[in-house]
This record gives sequence, structure tokens and C-alpha cells, in this order.
Amino acid sequence: MRGPLRGFWAACGYLRVRVGGERVAVRAGILGTGAYVPEQVLTNFDLERRMNTSDEWIRTRTGIRERRIAREDQAASDLAFPAAEEALRVARIAAADLDGILVATTTPDHVFPSTAALLQRRLGAWNAWAFDMSAACSGFIYGLAVAASFVESGRARYVLVVGAEVLSRITDWEDRTTAVLFGDGAGAAVVGPVAEGGFLSFVLGADGGGADLLVLPAGGSRLPASHRTVEERQHFLKMNGREVFKFAVRIMAEASEEALRRAGLTKDDLDLLVPHQANLRIIDAAQERFQLSPEKVVVNLDRYGNMSAASTPVALHEAYRAGRLSPGNVVLLVAFGGGLTWAATVLLWSVPSPLRTGEFEAALARGKTEP
Ligand code: ACO
Repeated sequence: MRGPLRGFWAACGYLRVRVGGERVAVRAGILGTGAYVPEQVLTNFDLERRMNTSDEWIRTRTGIRERRIAREDQAASDLAFPAAEEALRVARIAAADLDGILVATTTPDHVFPSTAALLQRRLGAWNAWAFDMSAACSGFIYGLAVAASFVESGRARYVLVVGAEVLSRITDWEDRTTAVLFGDGAGAAVVGPVAEGGFLSFVLGADGGGADLLVLPAGGSRLPASHRTVEERQHFLKMNGREVFKFAVRIMAEASEEALRRAGLTKDDLDLLVPHQANLRIIDAAQERFQLSPEKVVVNLDRYGNMSAASTPVALHEAYRAGRLSPGNVVLLVAFGGGLTWAATVLLWSVPSPLRTGEFEAALARGKTEP
């Protein structure tokens, strides 16, 4: 066989050999990503002046150096909007072509209406349904799974998935055991049909038995806002850090291995690991288990801390923008969080590198070297 046809069949053979994965009629994939973080930087040294902690403790125990804090007038939908706009631009999809918008967040603008509905209005995505998802730090990957199911069943063509968090609003700035960990930001992805590549597997899980390990006690129907709940500081996040740490190390490995198995791949096939950014020691444990070189693992928590549902999409977008992803690369996203929840997906990347499309240079020219 000669010419282009030979290349086509060779590619099919390559895909058949290299890729197993769950069987679907139309494969969904990521068509574009975007991210936004607020400008205000809060360093460990700033925290040293506010509470009994030290840069040394925070860096050695978590790997975090600084985080971003939203302005007073910025809510989750305000962070989600620029991230969503960028994802649509990279995907070359108009807002009006979206069939659905899904926002994963633990810090929505309001209990209702959903942050997704507010984002729909702002984008002018008038043909899209919209709802929020609550799966804490696993929310973005949960969202990708829901979006992929819509696309692969034929019930939607393009779905926007956003992870957006303003964790500074539910952080107890008098509790040094949690205040040093979190930051604000948003990341987004457009999910749609792909000719090659796409999502090969998903693993989603929950263990409500661990619900009390990570909780925002008040503000819901269990403990509505009252003078007492405010006085008792029940509107701030509470966490049993040691127990969550043990759970995280175990579940990151288990969920990742299961996602690779369902995709018909092994750790040796991995081109990039995009883990949830909660603690560098948790990421290091995963890196060691999979014996990955540092350039195959995305780490940005030193600059942003833990942004919950926004962590994985911001890390994915930064990797894309830095030219660390090319079509055909095997990518593993994995996260864990409150619920308890966990989620992992293996996908074949399908968006051309911005280093080749000129997108990155255009961003640099605009002076936009950060998300
Ligand atoms: N500065 C200085 N000392 C501190 C601080 C601080 N900010 N915080 C705690 N300490 C002290 C503690 O009081 C304790 O002192 P003691 O021994 O005298 O009692 C000591 O440091 C050690 O505390 P540990 O809690 O044992 O510290 P550890 O090494 O476990 O690190 C941490 C704590 C960073 C929270 C870690 O347990 C962790 O990362 N856990 C996982 C958190 C996580 O992944 N959360 C995800 C949730 S995301 C979501 O769903 C929103």
C-alpha cells in the first residue's frame, strides 16, 4: 500500500495496538482548555505575619509557597468566566454551540441559582443546559465523565466543564492547620466528539463513611446560618488532615492503576500524570509508585496551593500551554477529595500543541504568561 492510505491504516493499527479502553460508538475527548487565577498573591511569608506558622513548615510539609486570593467582588462565576472563554477559544467552539455547562465547585456564588446558570448568562450560551456538581476536589474529573457520557450517548455534542473555587471564603484564617493549604482559581475544558484519541476510561468512587473527615458544617439544611453558627465558626472548612492524607496516598494509586487497566494500558505508556494538587508529598508518593521522571508529572501547587475542583484543570491547561502535550500523548488525571470522593481518567490528548499553532506566542505577546 502506498501514500496517504498507508499512513491511515498504519495509524489505525497503531491505535488498535496501543489503545484498549471502554467501547463506545462516538469517542469524546477534550477539544480545548482554559484557566484563570486571581492576581493577588498570598505568600507563606504573608501568612507568617498573620498566624503562628512558618514558610519552612508550609514548604516542607506541603510544597506550597504561595496561593492566589480572589478580590472581594469576585465570586466563583467571575473566575469561571475567563477560564471558560479561553477553553472555547482554544477549542474554536462558539458559546452558542454549547449543549451543556457543568460547573464543579464547593464554593458556588449562591446555593441557587447554579454557578453554571450564571456562567451560561455571561457567556451567552443560550442553547446550553446548566447545573453545578458537588464532588469537592474530584469534581472536575466527575464533570468530565458526565460530559463524556452525554457526548458518547449522542445527547449532547459540546459540553463545557469548569472547576471553579473561591476557597478563601470558606477558609478559617484563625486555623493554621487548614488556612495555609488553599487558594482560588478556575480551569475549564470543552468536551466534544474526537476523530482520534479521547477518553479511554473513567474511574469514579465515593466513600460516605469518611464524610466527616472534610466538611463545611453550616450553611446547608443541616445547620442553617444563625448567630450561633457564625459565632462557632461553623461556616469554615474543617479537615482531619492526617486521615485525609492516608486516604489520599492509597486512593491516588488505586484509582490510577484501575483507570490504566480499564484503558488497556500500563504505567509505562504514560506520557503525563496530572494529579490533584493538595500536597507535594502525596504527589511524590504517586510519582514513586509509577516510577515516573519529574517531567512526566505536573506540579503547580507551589504557586497556587490546593484549589479543589480547579486544581486538575488549571494544571492540565498549564501543561498544554507549556507545550508538554501533543496529540496522541497518554494523559492520566487523578483526584481525591471531600465526600470522600475520588476520580481518575485516562485520555489520549487530541489538541495540537500551542507551540505549533502560535497560541502560546500570541499569549506571550499579550503579556499573558500565566493563566
Ligand atoms: N504551621 C506550623 N505548624 C503547624 C501548622 C502550620 N500551618 N499546621 C499544623 N501544625 C503543627 C500541628 O499542630 C502539629 O503539631 P503537634 O505535633 O505539636 O501537635 C504538627 O504541626 C504536625 O501536624 P500534622 O497534622 O501531623 O502535620 P502533617 O504532616 O500531617 O501535615 C497536612 C498536615 C499538611 C494538612 C497533611 O496532613 C495533609 O496534607 N493532609 C491532606 C490534606 C488534603 O489533601 N486535603 C484535601 C482536601 S481538598 C478538598 O476536598 C477541599
